[in-house]
Amino acid sequence: MREKLEALLEAAVSEIQKATSEDALQELRVKYLGKKGELTTIMKSIGALSPDDRPAMGQVVNSVRDRLEEQLQLNLGIVRESQKAARLREERIDITLPGRRRPMGSKHPVTLIIEEISEIFAGLGFQVAEGPEIELDYYNFEALNFPKDHPARDMQDTFFVDEKRLLRTHTSPVQIRTMLKHAPPVRIIAPGTVYRCDSDATHSPMFHQIEGLMVDKGITFGDLKGILTIFINQLFGSGTGVRLRPSFFPFTEPSAEVDIACVICKGKGCRVCKNSGWLEILGAGMVDPEVFRHVKYDSEAVSGFAFGMGIERIAMLKFGISDMRLLFENDIRFLSQF
Ligand code: PHE
Repeated sequence: MREKLEALLEAAVSEIQKATSEDALQELRVKYLGKKGELTTIMKSIGALSPDDRPAMGQVVNSVRDRLEEQLQLNLGIVRESQKAARLREERIDITLPGRRRPMGSKHPVTLIIEEISEIFAGLGFQVAEGPEIELDYYNFEALNFPKDHPARDMQDTFFVDEKRLLRTHTSPVQIRTMLKHAPPVRIIAPGTVYRCDSDATHSPMFHQIEGLMVDKGITFGDLKGILTIFINQLFGSGTGVRLRPSFFPFTEPSAEVDIACVICKGKGCRVCKNSGWLEILGAGMVDPEVFRHVKYDSEAVSGFAFGMGIERIAMLKFGISDMRLLFENDIRFLSQF
């Protein structure tokens, strides 16, 4: 039996040393050490020996098993090393190849305009304020002096969330939120997303506005006109014509619609300005005392002006975009031009 074991060990070691793959080594492990393996079979026959011979034989079998185990591990290491070396030889990295470029993203035209306008007003001492897009009816309408039955509250204009909440239809509620939080003076702009139930080539149900609010002692309509003229000249170029027309908003009194000389035809008249020579770009006015009453400002002590403008319309004018829907189709070919 001892000779048999020695022969087995010799044969097994030489087979293991010749193996060149992990699979081959695994097969050899099964062949010798597996449940029905050669060594296992011999081990089982120990039971047939006389009790005196069993311990010595058992020791020999164990040491043969340990030797095989050792040899298998050793060759497994060798095989793995040589496989790794072969892989490294094949997978040479050519560091002289040019890198793969990631396409550069670009800012959305609406973002670009918001940033440009914010920067102009930052230069005039305005801070940026924000408010929620799901807004209370109270801040969107009530505190801004919209009468209960005002048509702007109607279903066709406003997306209501429930009885008390809606998607803000303008950025003007940020005026209320700001004044409730801060005592005068205030000087803020509030860019943000607004929603109206409206959709065609020049209206999107989701669009953007920038609100402006300045309140202090002795602010006049002249300040409003001055600030807006500086702003328009910076945004559209110095010398751009500015025109104020009387208008109405529940939260300003007096109110004005502000036009600029058409940036396309310079006031001569064209398709974009519908031959009028003027383009309407914002609404504005002096803050109505009724609004001050809601935020507990003393309208005898302070006065102020507010204005609001649509960003998409300005982006379309500045970049020469004819259809507002292009702004929200997310077509990379369109967006990457800005
Ligand atoms: N909120 C008004 C609108 O959406 C614009 C506006 C803002 C008018 C501030 C006057 C003062 O049409």
